[in-house]
Amino acid sequence: AANRTFTMIKPDGVENGHIGAILDQITASGFRIVAMKLTQMTTRDAEAFYAVHKERPFFGELVEFMTRGPIVAAILEKDNAVEDFRTLIGATNPEEAAEGTIRKKFATSIGENAVHGSDSDENAQIEGAFHFAGREQF
Ligand code: CMP
Repeated sequence: AANRTFTMIKPDGVENGHIGAILDQITASGFRIVAMKLTQMTTRDAEAFYAVHKERPFFGELVEFMTRGPIVAAILEKDNAVEDFRTLIGATNPEEAAEGTIRKKFATSIGENAVHGSDSDENAQIEGAFHFAGREQF
């Protein structure tokens, strides 16, 4: 059955002019856009969104990066959405990402890696609800 994942085109992807190409690859891969907006996370938003990483050495850098400019936030629907989207984006580190994946094409480093994808159905639900009200989801 169709289910959902949550994604963000991160500030580097927006700054580098890749919104259109990334969305094109996502929809061409069979994902339906259920919700979408251009928005900017506050420091408080990013600290809450990435709370699971707060003890990591890169946490400060991650929050700085994710708040430095606008992002595209979106909820996507497809059969096996979470796993298939993670395959489509590729490994966190673009140097390890498979050929043809979104991160291989558009990411610049492990930190500035162009896109986010939820890592579980449970987190997809939490992350989607963080950014979108029920009436903004179609
Ligand atoms: P993502 O998996 O979307 O969510 C956590 C983010 O933390 C990850 O993408 C990277 O952007 C960032 N991250 C992970 N590891 C590192 C690292 N070693 N240095 C800097 N940023 C990192």
